Amino acid sequence: MIAVANISDVPNYGKKVVTVSAQEILLVNVKGTVYACENECPHQGSPMSGAVIKEGSISCPRHGYRFSLLDGRCAEHPEYSLKIFPVTVDGDQILIDI
Ligand code: FES
Repeated sequence: MIAVANISDVPNYGKKVVTVSAQEILLVNVKGTVYACENECPHQGSPMSGAVIKEGSISCPRHGYRFSLLDGRCAEHPEYSLKIFPVTVDGDQILIDI
């Protein structure tokens, strides 16, 4: 696992983009639970950093495809799925597994 940010960098319902191994990863905090996903929408590549966050899901700002933050699935368009990375919070550090 790789330390990518401090928990204070990602406030509740906030987002932060980090770059790991030349890949942009979006960190999202939903009520204290931190999720990590690719920052590029699998539909047409829009940055997910502008996405709307609701409990358990993230909606692409471009066409509104909604992906589960747990497994990346898109219920309305199952042919697309967002890559989700395992997250661990250790003290004030956010670690992800890519
Ligand atoms: S580019 Fe994300 S839903 Fe179309």
